[in-house]
Amino acid sequence: MEEGQWRAARGLVREAGRVVALTGAGISAESGVPTFRDAGGLWRSYRPEELATPEALARDPRTVLEWYEWRRSMLADCRPNAGHRALARFFLKCGESGLVTQNVDGLHTRAALEEAGAGAADAALPIELHGAVGRDRCDGCGARSPAEPLGDDLPRCGGCGGLRRPDVVLFGEPLDAAVLDRARVLAERADLCLVVGTSAVVYPAAALPLATLQAGGHIVEVNPQRTALTDAAAAALRGEAGTVLPALLD
Ligand code: OAD
Repeated sequence: MEEGQWRAARGLVREAGRVVALTGAGISAESGVPTFRDAGGLWRSYRPEELATPEALARDPRTVLEWYEWRRSMLADCRPNAGHRALARFFLKCGESGLVTQNVDGLHTRAALEEAGAGAADAALPIELHGAVGRDRCDGCGARSPAEPLGDDLPRCGGCGGLRRPDVVLFGEPLDAAVLDRARVLAERADLCLVVGTSAVVYPAAALPLATLQAGGHIVEVNPQRTALTDAAAAALRGEAGTVLPALLD
């Protein structure tokens, strides 16, 4: 049965003119980044869904900013893994395709820059649906700036004095409409949506593979576990992204 899934997945990758990939926390697990819903995703016993909300930011900004400071310090030691690199190589070759991620860890971007070497990395740069922790954004005027270490005082925008917060989508906040539109167009035009390392329960990201399906394309899933999308997938490859993706795409 496993062999049949691989044969189907390889055939779909070979025949697809346009491919979109949707990745989630699982692709970074082998880089040492904790996922959200597996064991080990907690910080000081807070659940991310309760901590990283606009209400928590308004009520207790320091705790929320400290959580992101912890995530940034953890990410400083993490490197892209074989899964990120295989996707980067694949998308560097495919002009019409695109990589969409729910992750805010910046590891796809680093893999794209590393794999592109002196060449242009653009084709493998991800659409980051949920933002990036490596940047701050002013909660008032929206001005973006590189993240800086948290000091004794809350970080303030040099322009308007608003709170500088990580440039990420908090739980309960809407996604950037233009960013989501770009991802939707890719998903609707794709012959194949590769869904990697996501539990596929957070919307609107989880609807993107369904957009590919509704437009007549197929889904191939890469995940050690079943997910909400498994039944909709033409092939489901059970394994870790760092092993499965190089074997599937290279
Ligand atoms: P989850 O933590 O919900 O799911 C991680 C998925 O990765 C699970 O299905 C695991 O089985 C799978 N997984 C674990 N290790 C893997 C590996 N080595 N290779 C492949 N898959 C592996 O994370 P997401 O689905 O990314 O949103 O969560 C989606 C969103 O929920 C996040 O972007 C975040 C969170 O709320 C925001 O912060 C707005």
